[in-house]
Amino acid sequence: PETGCLSIIVLGASGDLAKKKTFPALFNLYRQGFLQSNEVHIFGYSRTKLSDDDLRDRIRGYLPQGKELTNDVSDFLQLIKYVSGSYDAPEGFQELDKAISEHEISKNSTEGSSRRLFYLALPPSVYPQVCKMIKSYCMNKSDLGGWTRIVVEKPFGKDLASAEELSSQIGELFDEPQIYRIDHYLGKELVQNLLVLRFANRFFLPLWNRDNIANVQIVFREDFGTEGRGGYFDQYGIIRDIIQNHLLQVLCLVAMEKPVSLKPEHIRDEKVKVLQSVVPIKDEEVVLGQYQGYKDDPTVPNDSNTPTFATVIYVYTMKDGKAGKALNSRKAEIRVQFKDVPGDIFKCQKQGRNEFVIRLQPSEAIYMKLTATLPRVVIPEAYERLILDTIKGDQQHFVRRDELKAAWEIFTPLLHRIDQGEFKSLPYKPGSRGPVEADELLERAGYVQTHGKEKNP
Ligand code: BG6
Repeated sequence: PETGCLSIIVLGASGDLAKKKTFPALFNLYRQGFLQSNEVHIFGYSRTKLSDDDLRDRIRGYLPQGKELTNDVSDFLQLIKYVSGSYDAPEGFQELDKAISEHEISKNSTEGSSRRLFYLALPPSVYPQVCKMIKSYCMNKSDLGGWTRIVVEKPFGKDLASAEELSSQIGELFDEPQIYRIDHYLGKELVQNLLVLRFANRFFLPLWNRDNIANVQIVFREDFGTEGRGGYFDQYGIIRDIIQNHLLQVLCLVAMEKPVSLKPEHIRDEKVKVLQSVVPIKDEEVVLGQYQGYKDDPTVPNDSNTPTFATVIYVYTMKDGKAGKALNSRKAEIRVQFKDVPGDIFKCQKQGRNEFVIRLQPSEAIYMKLTATLPRVVIPEAYERLILDTIKGDQQHFVRRDELKAAWEIFTPLLHRIDQGEFKSLPYKPGSRGPVEADELLERAGYVQTHGKEKNP
């Protein structure tokens, strides 16, 4: 493993994402010994004027509590320094660079490289200017080697054209191997396990094809609405928030061919092929919904057509996916439904079809008709793994530029029709299964409901 100074710079340090996800993930990595205090320093940067201690106090409330953790928490917080400045002017970034360099000098008294990881916990609208500032003032300088990497969060654009524009703006400043587009679904335990399950088990290899599988459902449900973030959500909607990124990534891993090796580029090559072979979504392959009460949020316009629910059939042999907020349960799963047994002497039809289910959350599980759940182990948070991969320089679980482009191509025509109000979201009751039309769409696509259909009130 590399040694030398590692600086993790969280831009947007006073914001929600940083407090709720980034700093807690860093803390857990620190506790597990992945971030050594003799080589790591963490910097927070944002516009708000704060002292180091002000920032530490803000973060403290989001870290795990408990007597046995008190020492770890305070040691961790001591690693954090704060610099304030704007996102588009040199002064703040020059100061940031000074702070990082000072720390590098103090810690590099022996030997070692300078590694700088910039985590942009910021709205994408400021990515280009922030990247420009980093490139101009904050790149790593050690002659002994090292690197500068940037981590960016979705939304990467709003459609194909805006995503491509963002990609080329960032691409002018950083090379693809320096850019880590995070999709936290790729950090989830069972998503990471998918390739192992599929390609290391003789059991699945001969079955995983259109001769045996009738359809695959990739499901995301949440039992809460968009309260508190209606302003953000209304500009994006469920397709841009969940389906175009998280669920398409899962789809790639379910549908891809066996990669030549486990090298990140080989895996990403296969994923791109899946996306490129999915045809852009047509109206008759979609049901959109909006839960009743969504527009009561003062930050949501009264005439909003933004979908909070969508069921989409992908015409890539047999996949479909749906996602919705304010439904009757919270879960994310992949449901692989096999065809009926030919000449079924036991009349298994009545029992329902074979299904292989991978539940991503809550309570990760893998089960089939022969129930086979994995033993529970300590499961790290998605963000922890992904940040660790960034430090290690492993891009396997990050979205490559051509992948992002192919993913937007699938949804852009549909999204434009929704934006122009030509495709309407159907109302559904909060706490329900979503619009009944969605179940009908799945039935038309060949999905046979095999267990306790919940009532649609
Ligand atoms: C985020 C979306 O990317 O993922 C949220 O913006 C959603 O709307 C969240 O709630 C779901 O993530 P998880 O890990 O809780 O399933």
